Amino acid sequence: MSLSIVILAAGQGTRMKSARPKVIHELAGKPLLQHVVDSCRALQPEQIFAVTGHAAEQVHAVMQGQDLSFVEQAEQLGTGHALAQCLDAITPGNDVLVLFGDVPLIRAETMAQIVEADDDAAVRILSFIPESPFGYGRILRQQDDSVRAIVEHKDASQEQLGIGECFSGIMSIRGDNLHQLVTSLDNKNAQGEYYLTDVVGIAVANGNTVSAILCVDPGEVSGINNQQQLAAVEALYRARQVDTLMTQGAKIFDPTRIDIRGEIKLGRDVQIDVNCVFEGNVTLGDNVRIGANCVIRNSSIAADSEIKPMTSIDEAVIGRGVSIGPFARIRPGTECEDEVKIGNFVETKQAKIGKGSKVSHLSYIGDTEMGSAVNIGAGTITCNYDGVNKHKTVIGDGVFIGSDTQLVAPVTVESNATIGAGSTITRNAPADKLTVSRAKQVTIDSWTKPVKQSGDS
Ligand code: UD1
Ligand code: MG
Repeated sequence: MSLSIVILAAGQGTRMKSARPKVIHELAGKPLLQHVVDSCRALQPEQIFAVTGHAAEQVHAVMQGQDLSFVEQAEQLGTGHALAQCLDAITPGNDVLVLFGDVPLIRAETMAQIVEADDDAAVRILSFIPESPFGYGRILRQQDDSVRAIVEHKDASQEQLGIGECFSGIMSIRGDNLHQLVTSLDNKNAQGEYYLTDVVGIAVANGNTVSAILCVDPGEVSGINNQQQLAAVEALYRARQVDTLMTQGAKIFDPTRIDIRGEIKLGRDVQIDVNCVFEGNVTLGDNVRIGANCVIRNSSIAADSEIKPMTSIDEAVIGRGVSIGPFARIRPGTECEDEVKIGNFVETKQAKIGKGSKVSHLSYIGDTEMGSAVNIGAGTITCNYDGVNKHKTVIGDGVFIGSDTQLVAPVTVESNATIGAGSTITRNAPADKLTVSRAKQVTIDSWTKPVKQSGDS
C-alpha cells in the first residue's frame, strides 16, 4: 500500500509571540517544518503535503524548490480541519501518516513503527509520557486498556488531567477509513476547533480498533508551542547530535558545550574542544583537532589538520596536515593544500594556497592563486579591490614576500621571487629576483628632538 504524508503547518503559533509563523522558526539553523520533511522522506512516501495557511507565503518562500505539495487551509479551524483540506489531493486508498510541523525531532524509525505495525487498526497513534503533560491531549483508555479517545487539555476534566499518557501529534489512518473519519469531525469543544484527535473516539464508536504505540523517548515527540519549548528542544537536538559524534569515536571535551547545526562526517580520533559551532555540511578527517571557540560552516578539513582556538572557517576546503589559527578568518572560496600554515589574524577569501605555503601573521589574502612553499611575511595585503572591481594576485612557487607588503592586483609575483619588506608592488615581479619598492632610507643629521614648551599642557 502506498503512503501519503500530511504535515500540518498552517497554525500561527500564537504562543511563540512572533511575526513569523511557528513552523519556520529555526531549530539548529533549520526551519522546524524542514526537520519533519527531511525525516519523513526515509519512508519513501508517494506524496508529501504540507498544509499551510497563516502567513503561507512566508512558509512557501522558506520551503520552496522541494518535492513537497502545499495545500491551503485558508482559515485555521483546527488540526482535523487542516487534514480535511487534503482529502481531495490524497491518492484514494492510500494510508495517511499525519505529522505536525511543530514536532520536529520525530525519527523516521518511529514513523515507520506507526505505519508498518502489524494490526488491523483503523487509526494508530503515537503516545508518550512527557515530564509535564501540560497542553497535550490525554489518551483515554477503556477498562480492557484499549484506546477509547483523546481529550484535549482544555476539554479535560480534573481527573483526566491527571493522565500521564499524551498524544504526540503523530497518527496514521488507514486509507479505507480516511474519508469517513475526517468528514465526521465537528467543532463542539472548548476551542471551537475541528480536532484531529477526535478521529480516535469516532473510530472506536464505529467499532474500529485504535492502537497506541508508546514512544519511549519523550524528547523525540516534544511539541514546540513557545520559545521555552524551542530552547528545550534545541538542547535535546544538540545532545542527540553530540551523542552520535561520540558513538562514532569523536572526543568531545564537553558534550554540553558544542552546537551542531547540520551534519558532520567524521574520521577517526577527531578531537573537539569547547564552544565550537558546526553549521551545514562539515567533514573532519582522521586526527583532526579543533580548538576552543571555533565556528566551522560548510567546509571540509582533511586528516591530521589542526584548527586552533577562535577560528572561523566558512565554505573552505582544507587539506591534510594544515594548521590554522588561532584567530584566523577563512572565508568562502579558500582552498588550502596539504601542510599549509595560516597563523593569527589572517583573513583569506577566494584564495588557493599551495602545498606547504605559510601565511603566519596579520595578512589579507583575497582573490589569490598561490603556489607551493611560499612564505608570506607579516602584514602582507593583497589589494584586490579597486573600489569597483576585484582583481587577481598570482604568486608562484617558492616566493618569499617580505613583511608589510601590498600586492596591488592584478599582479603576478613569479616563482622564487623575493619581495623586500615594506614594498608596494604594482607591476609583475620577475622570477628568482629581489624586487623592492620603497624610498631609500635616509638619516637627517640636522634633525633635533622637539623640546616641550613651557605652558603647554
Ligand atoms: C496538538 C494536539 C494534542 C497533542 C499536541 C502534540 C490537536 C487538537 N491537539 O495540540 O492532542 O498532544 O498537538 O504536540 O490536534 N495546525 C494547522 N491548522 C490548524 C491548527 C493547527 O495546520 O487549524 C498545525 C499547527 O501549525 C501545528 C500543528 O497543527 O504544526 C499542531 O497545532 P497546535 O496548535 O500546536 O496544537 P497543540 O495545541 O500543540
Ligand atoms: Mg503544538
